Amino acid sequence: MLKSADTGLRAVPFPIEDPERIPVERYFSEEFYQAEVEHLWPHVWQMACRLEQIPEEGDWIEYQNVGKSVLVVNTGAGGIKAWHNACRHRGVPVAGHPKIDSVVGGDHGNCKQSGFVCPFHGWRFDMHGENTFVYGKQLFSERQLEHADLNLIPCRVETAIGAAWINFDDEAPSFRDCIGPLIERLEAHNVDKLRMEWCYATVLPANWKIAMEAFMEGYHVMKTHPQLHSALGSLYNDMYGSDTGTGSGGGPGKQQKSAADGAGLREVLDAQFKHMELLSEGMAGMLHAKEVEIARGLLDVEGLPENPNEAVPIWFGMIADQITRQLQARGEPVPNLCEVNVSHPVNAVEFLFPHYFLLPFFSSFSSYRIRPLGPESCFFEIYSLTMFPEGEEPEPVMEPIVLPYDSPDFPPIPRQDYSNIPIQQVGLHARGFDFMRLSKDCEGLISNYQRLIDGYLAGVPQEKLAKANNLLGGNFDGKICDLDF
Ligand code: FES
Ligand SMILES: [Fe+2]
Repeated sequence: MLKSADTGLRAVPFPIEDPERIPVERYFSEEFYQAEVEHLWPHVWQMACRLEQIPEEGDWIEYQNVGKSVLVVNTGAGGIKAWHNACRHRGVPVAGHPKIDSVVGGDHGNCKQSGFVCPFHGWRFDMHGENTFVYGKQLFSERQLEHADLNLIPCRVETAIGAAWINFDDEAPSFRDCIGPLIERLEAHNVDKLRMEWCYATVLPANWKIAMEAFMEGYHVMKTHPQLHSALGSLYNDMYGSDTGTGSGGGPGKQQKSAADGAGLREVLDAQFKHMELLSEGMAGMLHAKEVEIARGLLDVEGLPENPNEAVPIWFGMIADQITRQLQARGEPVPNLCEVNVSHPVNAVEFLFPHYFLLPFFSSFSSYRIRPLGPESCFFEIYSLTMFPEGEEPEPVMEPIVLPYDSPDFPPIPRQDYSNIPIQQVGLHARGFDFMRLSKDCEGLISNYQRLIDGYLAGVPQEKLAKANNLLGGNFDGKICDLDF
């Protein structure tokens, strides 16, 4: 909670005053949306593209969000650069124009030879952003043509974990400082070596935060993803003493309730395996089909302890070991999963504030990026990420396949999530429904995220915001934390 109104901070519309209660206007008010456009998005690190999308010198891709367009360019020896996409003459975007009125841009090409040519009067810029041609120079006053003043305006960009991250704020702490130790943990898992297998996208009629928050707790699994619930017993039974609910699905080696209560070992392993299959099919990745097959080969393994609660983590360790060996033997750049799961463990979900998250399992991941299109609409992308033998990587996926949110072509688990998100947005408008009521124990991430947003809207010093951001990587079912502002 923002501690004082007299600290020179801006007033936040519909602020969070009770960390367990989220005022509903934050999800539909034009005023709140505009506050985010003005005070949140220009100061945060945004995942602009995956580096595999711009592998060659001169490759560029456009990134758009909340009315801004940026060109991310591979300049070869000069590294990855980003330019604000506006000609220095009269402001026309120098690239990406065929799609400027599409939902979120994403045009791409190679500018090594041609550079960027403004479609209005033909001014040119090279991949380093330098102006190389002004048509009819003699028509301009000399002071209008100061060379440095004609170059494309650079946008701050950093690369990490296989992606380019942009920030409009030159004063913001670095990407690494904002995200914190999570970066090292992801690097240890060779996340930069992952490649997209596919990318689907949809327009959801919901606020972007509603969409993010659908992935911040496992509390919804019992009702929203009943197939996952029935494969394994209840985790919340143990944790919270309720009589319904299950865990989030968890990551490798998470013990589930079905491992207790006298079930035989084989029965428990079968249930765990079934859960893996459902996750793999349900996400069309994340726990990749090739990894499921390796796990299947260990169902009959001998020598495990009789007690399932002891055996299951050991069994998951054996799967991780076999995945490491077998995929490495195929030439995939998989790290030693047994080692990195101990030295740099990752959570079942890892958030990179504000609009990107990764769902790791063994060596493959799912990832999500969500961009607002207005107070009650967002563009929602899902990527399946996996590794390939070096030199056998497929052509990069350059654009998502955009489907209606209720399309049967979405993998089953996201489709189940999409069934709730738009109707929740409608429910928030109900008379008398003033705030969301959070569980302090398993919906804390939602509170933490929302209060960090308030920090940006209020203008809390960025070093403090970065420190708070470091706390947010988190797993499903995080607790409400003190963000120290
Ligand atoms: S606006 Fe680009 S050349 Fe005129
Ligand atoms: Fe879900």
